[in-house]
Amino acid sequence: MGDREGAPSVGLAVRNITKVFGAAGAAAVHAVDDLSLDIHRNEFFTLLGPSGCGKTTLLRMIAGLEQPTSGAVLLDDEPLQGLPPFRRPVNTVFQSYALFPHMSVGENIAFGMQMRRLEAATVARKVEEVLALVRLEGLSDRRPSQLSGGQQQRVALARALANQPKVLLLDEPLSALDLKLRKQMRLELKRLQKATGIIFVFVTHDQDEALIMSDRLAVLSAGRILQVGTPEDIYKRPRSRFVADFIGDSNIILGQPKAPDRLALGEAAHLHLAEPLRPEHAGAAELPVAIRPESCRLVNGAALEDNANVFPARVREIEYLGADTCVVLDVAPLRAPITVRLRNVEAEDTVPREGDAVRVSLPAAALRVLDL
Ligand SMILES: Nc1ncnc2c1ncn2[C@@H]1O[C@H](COP(=O)(O)OP(=O)(O)OP(=O)(O)O)[C@@H](O)[C@H]1O
Ligand SMILES: [Mg+2]
Repeated sequence: MGDREGAPSVGLAVRNITKVFGAAGAAAVHAVDDLSLDIHRNEFFTLLGPSGCGKTTLLRMIAGLEQPTSGAVLLDDEPLQGLPPFRRPVNTVFQSYALFPHMSVGENIAFGMQMRRLEAATVARKVEEVLALVRLEGLSDRRPSQLSGGQQQRVALARALANQPKVLLLDEPLSALDLKLRKQMRLELKRLQKATGIIFVFVTHDQDEALIMSDRLAVLSAGRILQVGTPEDIYKRPRSRFVADFIGDSNIILGQPKAPDRLALGEAAHLHLAEPLRPEHAGAAELPVAIRPESCRLVNGAALEDNANVFPARVREIEYLGADTCVVLDVAPLRAPITVRLRNVEAEDTVPREGDAVRVSLPAAALRVLDL
């Protein structure tokens, strides 16, 4: 089914889906707004966005827990419309593990399979299998209250996996765990996804988590997708100011288009671009350009070529971060300060002090012109 080499086949498709809560008119909330998305088979896909942007609502519509106002969800080209949640090959793991407290771990995992009237021997075998998968062998008789938070989360995962879904939806499953456990569970979840081949749709508002775990991710804002891509794509080539700010840190510079490869910064200075301006940007009075703090350089005397974009600057503030130091600069032709991030092992003796006059380079190749 469309498995051409190099073209991953779509497993889960969301087509122009909209969810409006409340009566039409001023009180209506467009929680999800005409959103379309193709998630590939065997993909770890992340939905990343701030609180209230519609992540849970989108998952609930995929699970069948919420009816879309319009649009459709398809799995392997079949519409899921009309199927109740328990008939969909989709399981959800929530932030609160929602385990039955009066049942043992084994009974919690077996419950769904028993409801589907699977044979006792099959259920018992499956329970052992998924317990091994989440590395909880031997804990089958414990009650949830006798487990740590991370272990409870693994039981919730095991219970979802026991149903052999085609899609596993994970709604901020790690947010209740402490940082150390969360880091460990990130790797576990990735391993589980690759071991089972199930499509994982993982929701988070933690950018690090999204970058570390995902094959691809979508950045959402106000019910819409702003950008979809691999973590590297999104980090290196953010298209909008929102994405540039939401994933990692960005310096934003405003300039006036003067030539296809050049923006004016006020009267006297220019910013050279490595990529020519896109046609849709040509007519703009002012354009935002992003550059990551780690891509900016402090330079000394040596003359540099034009596209190094070197400007005189004064150090406003130094922030020591252990492995790195951030140097915040007032740069003469720019309206907003620029942050330069230095690696301390490399910069040891060259970190300036507050008030120092320095020169900063904003290499053209690291500049991204953003959409308005
Ligand atoms: N049942 C409901 N009735 C009315 N409005 C709702 C309902 N559920 C969600 N909303 C609204 O829809 C929008 C999206 O909510 P949703 O829960 O999907 O956001 P989210 O991205 O999951 O946020 P969070 O990161 O805080 O979990 C919000 O404005 C929310 O207030
Ligand atoms: Mg939510």
